[in-house]
Amino acid sequence: MVINDQTTYLNYAPAADRNKQPIWQVLQAYLPSNQSVLEVASGSGQHALYFTQQNPQLRWQCTELSDARDALQINLNELSVSKFPPVKTLDVLNDYFVSEIKALASFDCLYTSNSLHIMSWDGCLAFMSLASQVLPEGGVCAIYGPFLYDDQPVQSNIDFSAWLKERNPESGVRDIKEVEKGFREEGFEFLADHAMPANNRLLIFKKSSN
Ligand SMILES: C[S@@+](CC[C@H](N)C(=O)[O-])C[C@H]1O[C@@H](n2cnc3c(N)ncnc32)[C@H](O)[C@@H]1O
Repeated sequence: MVINDQTTYLNYAPAADRNKQPIWQVLQAYLPSNQSVLEVASGSGQHALYFTQQNPQLRWQCTELSDARDALQINLNELSVSKFPPVKTLDVLNDYFVSEIKALASFDCLYTSNSLHIMSWDGCLAFMSLASQVLPEGGVCAIYGPFLYDDQPVQSNIDFSAWLKERNPESGVRDIKEVEKGFREEGFEFLADHAMPANNRLLIFKKSSN
């Protein structure tokens, strides 16, 4: 089965094919076998499919907004070699969907990529609150994407943020200090900040208290 063929994916994201391997190179150290992972904003499922191919012991729960859920489910049905649980609808700002996720089995890790700069800042805070509610002490939250650093300004990320805000004033590349503060207030420790290709980062937060 060819799973890198863009014609086989609904909502195919070229960036997800480019970044899946570098992300996995770093992420795998935080995901021992058998871990249970909740992914927020799974998109086309390209990461979920690739990561679970690399480690078939992972139990991976995909989620998406209601209007993208069906396409993601079709991709998983058509392309997965292992069994995924049914995709859950999740808008982090919707209490009903959040409570449905909380009622599922517990998770060891929460993962998301390229979503914090798309959702509103209220959405980002709701994502952090969700992380705090679904992860046990010691659980890990891994976030891939671009972030802004006062002391190391990256013009392409500043320009990208301005472009996002023109399309939707609620979107925008997030300031690392604000992200760290939000997680700290939800009981997380900032464990690691990995530099990734194309001026992206993989942030790792660890739940330190309930
Ligand atoms: C650029 S896509 C990233 C998709 C995928 N993770 C990837 O890396 O290709 C942004 C994602 O953010 C999701 N999103 C936006 N607002 C959201 C919200 N309030 N709750 C959950 N997901 C949201 C969208 O549904 C979309 O999947």
